[in-house]
Amino acid sequence: MKIELENRLAVITGASSGIGLALCRLLLQGGARVLAFSRTPGGLDELLSVYPDQLVWQPGDVTSQEDLQGLAQRAASLGPVDFLVPCAGHVELASALDLAAQERQWAVNGAGALNTLAVLANQLATQSSVVFLGSFLSRCTFAGLAGHIAGKAALMAQARNLAKEFAPLQVRINMVSPGPTATGFWEQLGLNDDELDALAEQVGRRLLPGHFLEAASVARVIVFQLSEGARGVYGQDWVVDNGYTLG
Ligand SMILES: NC(=O)c1ccc[n+]([C@@H]2O[C@H](COP(=O)([O-])OP(=O)(O)OC[C@H]3O[C@@H](n4cnc5c(N)ncnc54)[C@H](OP(=O)(O)O)[C@@H]3O)[C@@H](O)[C@H]2O)c1
Repeated sequence: MKIELENRLAVITGASSGIGLALCRLLLQGGARVLAFSRTPGGLDELLSVYPDQLVWQPGDVTSQEDLQGLAQRAASLGPVDFLVPCAGHVELASALDLAAQERQWAVNGAGALNTLAVLANQLATQSSVVFLGSFLSRCTFAGLAGHIAGKAALMAQARNLAKEFAPLQVRINMVSPGPTATGFWEQLGLNDDELDALAEQVGRRLLPGHFLEAASVARVIVFQLSEGARGVYGQDWVVDNGYTLG
C-alpha cells in the first residue's frame, strides 16, 4: 500500500535527533514538506543539505510559549498542517517523590506536546492527523523513571479525550509508544559507560529480537498512523517495543 505523502505538510518537534529525526527523513523521502522544531539543529543539518526545498528548521524550545508562537507563525506561512508529531522528549533519573524532576519532564513531554497542539490547532487541515509519543514504560515499572512514566500516562489520557474533541473537525489523534530505542534518550539519563552497558544488557534480555529498536522502525509506524491507511484509528496507543512489555 502506497502512503500518500507528496507535498503534505508535517510539523515535527524533537526533530534534531532520534525518532523525530528518523521521522523527518522518512517523510522527506516520501515527498512531504517538513517544518522541524528543536533547540539545536543536530542531524537536521544533513537533511537540510539533501532536501533544501522540502525542509524548514525553526529553532525553539517547547517549554517557551514565545518559541511555540514562532512555530505557529512559520507554519502559517507554509499552509495547512496535515501531520503533527510532538516528539520532543526529556528524561531524568529521579526518585518517584522528586516532583521538581517530574515537573521538568512534564514541561517537555506533556505540557510541551499539548501546547504544541494548542498553538497549531486552528491550522490543522481537514483530514489531518496528530500522533503523540507515549512510552512502553507506561505499561510497566522502571526504577528512577516514575516521574517520566506518570507524565506519559497522563499524556495518553489527554490523547484519548482529545481524539473525541477533534474528531468533529476531521482531525485524528493517536499515540505511538516506543519501546527501548537506540537514541539519545538513554544518554540523557546521565549514566557512565559501564552503567549504560549494564542497563542495556538488562533491558536487552526482554527484547524478543535481542536488541534495541532502531529509530526508523518506530518512525515507520508513526507514518502509517498519520496516513489515510489508519483512518479508522482514533485515540489509540500503539506499542512498538520489540516485545519488551510481554515480560
Ligand atoms: N528512545 C527510547 O527508548 C524511547 C522510549 C519511549 C519513549 N520515547 C519517546 O520518544 C520521543 C523521542 O525521543 P528520542 O528517543 O528520539 O530521544 P532523543 O534522541 O534524545 O531526542 C529528543 C529530541 O527532543 C528534543 N528536545 C528535548 N527537549 C526539548 C525542548 N525543551 N524543546 C524542543 N525540543 C526538545 C531534542 O532536540 P534539541 O536538544 O535539539 O532541542 C531531540 O530532538 C520522546 O518523547 C521520548 O520520551 C523514547
